[in-house]
Amino acid sequence: MILYDLIKTRVSQKTYLDKKVDLTEIEEILDVSVFAPNHKMREPWRFIIIEGNQKDILKERYLKELPEDQKEDVTKKLDKILVAPAIIAFVMPLSLDYDDEIEDIQANAMAMQNFLILANEKGLSTHVKTPLFIKTDLFKDVLKLQENEIVTALVMVGYADQRNAPKRRTPVTDLITLYK
Ligand SMILES: Cc1cc2nc3c(=O)[nH]c(=O)nc-3n(C[C@H](O)[C@H](O)[C@H](O)COP(=O)(O)O)c2cc1C
Repeated sequence: MILYDLIKTRVSQKTYLDKKVDLTEIEEILDVSVFAPNHKMREPWRFIIIEGNQKDILKERYLKELPEDQKEDVTKKLDKILVAPAIIAFVMPLSLDYDDEIEDIQANAMAMQNFLILANEKGLSTHVKTPLFIKTDLFKDVLKLQENEIVTALVMVGYADQRNAPKRRTPVTDLITLYK
C-alpha cells in the first residue's frame, strides 16, 4: 500500500483476534517510529510492552491496590484495553520547562502516529487510549515508572477480527484559509 492509503486505512480497532503479536515485529516498528521530529534531540520517550500473562499480572496488581469504589469502573475500562494481544505504554519524562514539555508531548504524538501507520503496513491494527487512570500515582507505580515520568497513551496492538471503514473527516477545503 502506498503511504496515502496506509494513513487513510488506519482506524481505531476495539476487538482483536486471539493471535499473539511477534515482539520483534513491535520492536522493528518502534525502531523506525522514533525517527520522529523531536526538539533538541531530547528523544522524550520509552516504551513499556505489556502482553501475554503480563496483562493479567498488571490488572491484578492494579486492582489489588485500588479503593473498592473505583474497582468496577476501572475494571471495565482496563478490560477494554487488555483485549488487545499487546499494549504499548508510551512513556515520557516530564520536563521542568512547560514549553519543552509541550514539545515533548508533540514529539511523542508524532512517534505514535509513525507507529500506527507502520503497524498498519504490517497488517496490525491499533487503538490509542488515554483513560484518566493512566495519570494516577497508583497506575504509574504498577507500571514501575520513575517519579518524573508520565504515560502519554496506551496503544493497543493486534490483528483485527474485522475491518472497520475509516470515519468521515471534515473536507479539508472547509478547514483551509488562504492568508491574505
Ligand atoms: C491522544 C488520543 C487519545 C485517545 N483516547 C481514546 C480513549 O481514551 N478511548 C477511546 O476509545 N479512543 C481514544 N482515542 C481514539 C479516538 O477516539 C479515535 O482516534 C477517533 O475516534 C478517530 O477514529 P479513528 O482512529 O478510527 O480514525 C484517542 C485518540 C487520540 C489521538
